[in-house]
Amino acid sequence: MRVYDIIKKKRDGKELSAAEIKYFIEGYAKGEIPDYQAAAFCMAVYFKGMTERETADLTFAIRDSGEKPDLSGITGIRADKHSTGGVGDKTSLIVVPAVAACGVKVAKMSGRGLGHTGGTVDKMESVPGVKTELSPAEFVRAVNSCGMAIIAQSDSLAAADKKLYALRDVTATVDSIPLIASSIMGKKLALDDDCIVLDVKTGSGAFMKTLGESEKLARAMVDIGKRAGKRTVALITDMDRPLGRAIGNSLEMKEALGILHGNLSGAEDLYELSVRLAAEMLFLAGKGNNLSECEEKIKNAIIGGEALKTFALSVRTQGGDESYVFNPEKLKISEKTYEIKAGKDGYIVRSDAEGYGTAALILGAGRNKKDDNIDKGAGIVLLKKTGDKVKKGDIVARMYSSDENKFGEAVGKFNESTEIGLNPPSDRETVLKRID
Ligand code: URA
Repeated sequence: MRVYDIIKKKRDGKELSAAEIKYFIEGYAKGEIPDYQAAAFCMAVYFKGMTERETADLTFAIRDSGEKPDLSGITGIRADKHSTGGVGDKTSLIVVPAVAACGVKVAKMSGRGLGHTGGTVDKMESVPGVKTELSPAEFVRAVNSCGMAIIAQSDSLAAADKKLYALRDVTATVDSIPLIASSIMGKKLALDDDCIVLDVKTGSGAFMKTLGESEKLARAMVDIGKRAGKRTVALITDMDRPLGRAIGNSLEMKEALGILHGNLSGAEDLYELSVRLAAEMLFLAGKGNNLSECEEKIKNAIIGGEALKTFALSVRTQGGDESYVFNPEKLKISEKTYEIKAGKDGYIVRSDAEGYGTAALILGAGRNKKDDNIDKGAGIVLLKKTGDKVKKGDIVARMYSSDENKFGEAVGKFNESTEIGLNPPSDRETVLKRID
């Protein structure tokens, strides 16, 4: 087999065999195929696409390109969730303990934030002491004793993806459905969970900006899951505006803990989506006859405090200080603040998720490059967001940073991402579609 022929075949719009795809991915992971050929391959896929069968074979090759942690020691059924990335998306911090409290194991490997989107691992580390680098044996023990654990994804998981994603990032080939679907599902399948619930974001803060494109991505991922023999469901959810009101690591942990303490007001969208994702996981795991029964179980676990206790136990097991879980006000928020006020009366008609994520990044909450340091206490709390009525002078948002020189640029970004109009905008649901 020759790499040249594989690239040419895809360039000419022909269908690659499983053996050709495997040869290519294995060779690239081992360093036998150079970046320039891999870049040409990605560009050919970008323009010519892939069939469902090719996309699945690409995913399986990526899955098999790295180490697969041995999680077979985890007892019982295992469910996982994955979000395609958003702003203010702290659902995992609520969903994982709620599902675990209902008797389904969740061994969650998460990523760190990059660009305008946040990462669950950074949020976990806002609780002092929490260790997110666990060996597979420690991970198995933690999940068996608490029902859950949230740790950092190891670099060796689906190793080809790490190289390929970095290459796509600099060759304008990230936003291709077969490449995104295989990248995400390759990593998910390497964990060999029984059930997978996908939260595919759509809107300004998402990879896929339109409902149509998001639906294609969701269908591609659900198809891969099914071909791999996994129970898989996707929800397409709104990411035109941030989820909840907090953006930034400690601020988001505080908001998520607020929900686990039963304080739902002001973050109804976050609660609604968390309940729905968690219920989908329970339902796939066979823990209820229908979704509404599963939703009731999840709501009871949250309101009754079982999810909070599960999360506290998990934080303690991972070396963290659980008193922060019971007293979220202890979480350290950056001291310098800046209030953004409404310039006129009206309704917020746009709270652009990508713009707000970028403003939080400027404040220090995120990373431009993978190894940048972050300011865990930095970020934004939205006091008003899309649909809310405002009067001139009302506080729309409060910014936090440990460096007040950052406010100027962040405020500029925030203001250009916010629009106040005379009439209320039309309502947009949080969950837009279910694909199974
Ligand atoms: N997240 C991933 O892991 N891979 C992609 O290609 C896009 C988002």
